Amino acid sequence: MAEQLPIFVILSVIILSIFGVTFSQLVVNVRNKGGDVEREKIESNTTADTVKLEYLSKDGTLVTYFTDFKAHIQIFRVIVPWEEERGIVQSTPQVLCFITRFGKNEFISSDAMSKLRQKNPTAVRTPEEDKGLEKHTLNLVVNIDQSAILSQHLYNICHDARDSMYIEDTDVKLLSQVLNHDVDKVMSAMKSPELEKQSRCKDTSDIKKPCFCQYHLCVGWYPCGLKYCRGKDSAGKVVNYRCGIKTCRRCLLFEHFARQKMYCLWDDL
Ligand SMILES: *[C@@H]1O[C@H](CO)[C@@H](O)[C@H](O)[C@H]1NC(C)=O
Repeated sequence: MAEQLPIFVILSVIILSIFGVTFSQLVVNVRNKGGDVEREKIESNTTADTVKLEYLSKDGTLVTYFTDFKAHIQIFRVIVPWEEERGIVQSTPQVLCFITRFGKNEFISSDAMSKLRQKNPTAVRTPEEDKGLEKHTLNLVVNIDQSAILSQHLYNICHDARDSMYIEDTDVKLLSQVLNHDVDKVMSAMKSPELEKQSRCKDTSDIKKPCFCQYHLCVGWYPCGLKYCRGKDSAGKVVNYRCGIKTCRRCLLFEHFARQKMYCLWDDL
């Protein structure tokens, strides 16, 4: 009987509750579309009900993809180093945070994530499914000091993204409904810089002028769903149980306001 073993296994609930594991980390080597290998670190915290996926891209940008399941949001934080040849010398890298509503089946639960183990940690992975490119027009700027209204984790993750934390108005409205918040109160924590009135940063020559910026990133590999196997329980009854994961890749294009073109230097193609 040659049954193929899944590469990733989900440990049974019973084993883990004995050890009381609430925090776990997985390191996965991922081949991206350019052929380079990126090392992703995925941490889950079942107490907080969060998952954090992080990788350093080839250009030196640190990308953090954080899911706060309780708040129904995803945070994409990028820490972008300044390119010295541009002649703009800054001591600290640029930090941006893009917030989107968490859609169904966009990531496995923190609980399933914490139980995930891989059989061969040095293997280089490629995802089974490519979700393609999603475009998000984030037309609001979140006030960091009032960001807890959306998620208590925002301040921690994004405090260096002052004036560059973005979300879309339709997401704010839907999130307010889901979380039972007063929409007007939540909206008062946002600024609306009239994105549609700005010109594209790539068409703006004055480095001090505000403009409409685009930022592109890809998450090369993430567990986007569970796989189920059939088996028999101790009483001989046929049951379905979680036995592995489905893996995906997604790319995101974030359109957002830049208060000066110098904060959007990558968008000049
Ligand atoms: C997990 O989350 C809890 C609750 O937010 C927090 O107290 C704890 O420090 C977190 N654990 C780790 C290892 O980050």
